[in-house]
Amino acid sequence: MAETLRPERRLLGACARIDQIEQDAELAACVASQFSSVTPEIHLKWNSVENKEGQFWFGPVDRLIAFAQRNGQRVHGHALIWEQSTPDWALHQLRRDGDWGLVERHIHRVMGRYRDVIGDWDVVNEPIDTQNGRNGLRRNTFQQVFGSNYIERALETAHEAAPQARLLLNEYGFEYDNYVEVERRAAFLSLLQRLLDQGVPLHAVGIQAHLDLGKGPIPARDVADFLQAIADMGLAILITELDVKERDYRATIAERDMRVSDEVRRYLDIALTQPAVESVTTWGVTDRHSWLQVERGDQVDPERFGSAAPNRGLPFDSDLRPKPMHVALQDAIGQN
Ligand code: G3I
Repeated sequence: MAETLRPERRLLGACARIDQIEQDAELAACVASQFSSVTPEIHLKWNSVENKEGQFWFGPVDRLIAFAQRNGQRVHGHALIWEQSTPDWALHQLRRDGDWGLVERHIHRVMGRYRDVIGDWDVVNEPIDTQNGRNGLRRNTFQQVFGSNYIERALETAHEAAPQARLLLNEYGFEYDNYVEVERRAAFLSLLQRLLDQGVPLHAVGIQAHLDLGKGPIPARDVADFLQAIADMGLAILITELDVKERDYRATIAERDMRVSDEVRRYLDIALTQPAVESVTTWGVTDRHSWLQVERGDQVDPERFGSAAPNRGLPFDSDLRPKPMHVALQDAIGQN
């Protein structure tokens, strides 16, 4: 692949939780020294900042931002509108009143508070659903109450709240060669084109990139064409949630770690030949805290698993030792 096409330097980021960082000096040192940007894994979500109506809880975001600033790191804004992280009281009111003012107040409150420190925002998270959706869009409360143009409205509202900010849609499920992901790529491209044709403020996209060793080989040409189509629209691309789901626990730890690392290399070999890709963020730092453990119901008990966490899809193991995936990231990003 043509090395010369790659920008000089790309950012390597990770998502993080300040409560975990504050309780673990080793984790804090790792996040501070190994990554140039942090994404709050949960603290910025609506059900974190206003879990009960009118009771605001910005402490964890403030502390994570202070941590990032002490370490010269950027902070990525994740995520303003996502049904899964919308508190029940807000979903109920939206269904009852159909009042966009509620969404507007939320976006203005959060973006207004962090306007000067957060430049990039995932305004709408995971709007695509080609299986049970409507015209490729997920049937969520926002879509049902406000219609499919809730996405335009959210972007326009975000632009009013922070006119200098870069606004993103953040989405998953674009990496493999199965009919669902083929459709998802097409649906995402048509959504982007529709928004841009309408002149909606949209500046970049977040490609989550939750890789999965059970989904077969990555179709290099399809993924490259997909990223090129986004770049051709003039949008920047951020890889926002990279990690790897494993499925074969019978292999040795060394084999599993190599498979994870090889998958990351294969993906980044394709993705990073696209000059529009600016940064790579992993969805977590250490296997100890990965959402992939939670998803499997295997919360990691370090006493029991030691460094052999059930899923090994992040760059550091559960004892915070760097794994081959870390080396793959360093090689790809060029921050050795
Ligand atoms: O902190 C509470 C705890 O007090 C409570 O007892 C417990 C009971 O469920 O919940 C705890 O909150 C959980 C939180 O993580 C902290 O552990 C939430 O239930 C749980 O839903 C939340 O999960 C997060 C999820 O997004 C939903 O916000 C995951 O950590 C986070 O990794 C995941 O991240 C998402 C991205 O935002 C979008 N893309 C997919 C990615 C993985 O699902």
